[in-house]
Amino acid sequence: MKKITIAIDGFSSCGKSTMAKDLACEIGYIYIDSGAMYRAITLYCLQNGLFTDKGIETEKLRASLPDIRISFQLNEAGKPETYLNGENVEKQIRSMEVSSHVSPIAALDFVRETLVAQQQEMGRQKGIVMDGRDIGTTVFPDAELKIFVTASPEVRARRRYDELKGKGQEVCYEEILENVKQRDHIDQNRAVSPLRKAEDALLLDNGDMSITEQKEWLLQQFNRITRPD
Ligand code: DC
Repeated sequence: MKKITIAIDGFSSCGKSTMAKDLACEIGYIYIDSGAMYRAITLYCLQNGLFTDKGIETEKLRASLPDIRISFQLNEAGKPETYLNGENVEKQIRSMEVSSHVSPIAALDFVRETLVAQQQEMGRQKGIVMDGRDIGTTVFPDAELKIFVTASPEVRARRRYDELKGKGQEVCYEEILENVKQRDHIDQNRAVSPLRKAEDALLLDNGDMSITEQKEWLLQQFNRITRPD
């Protein structure tokens, strides 16, 4: 069966990563979480004092980019985890501190150029599911299957809250809701690669959908393209 490229874009906390990961596992494709790459750069900036009272030290970050290596490795459970210069940072990149600093980093044109080039290289042989904000529009504009996921900010904040609580983190729902709305605004209004639905992307509003219903829907779309008869 021919291998295709699957681009899953949408708002933050829509469950994109979970859905993309499950789909990749089911169909035997590689899964790449592009948001984790922006988060890893943000963690690097936090660790190296590149956030200052005056803003981001962009020139220092630009000079450091060639030394920042981001990679993914499967853990014992077969789940991909993010590594920053050889160190497993999967937990740290999901913290509220990283979440509340990542949008301005993702808005920097030179950061995007570097990461987009790395993402395109990862998908050169197809057989990949990548999720993010600009996968169907910029990274893989020729992807055979593009999906744009959405749900209300309240539904998304509740999901993020439950996820972080489940991991034992002390979190406040109102703070998360504010963070979700702020990130929507920045993601949609930034100058470089703003979040938008590609014209040929399928819209998936999963606010009222169960995980099982969503999975079935995704598999239907995949089969429609790879097994048209
Ligand atoms: O999907 P996420 O919440 O882990 O993404 C983290 C941030 O990175 C979010 O603010 C949007 C940004 N991002 C992006 O600009 N482009 C991508 N392809 C993926 C994520």
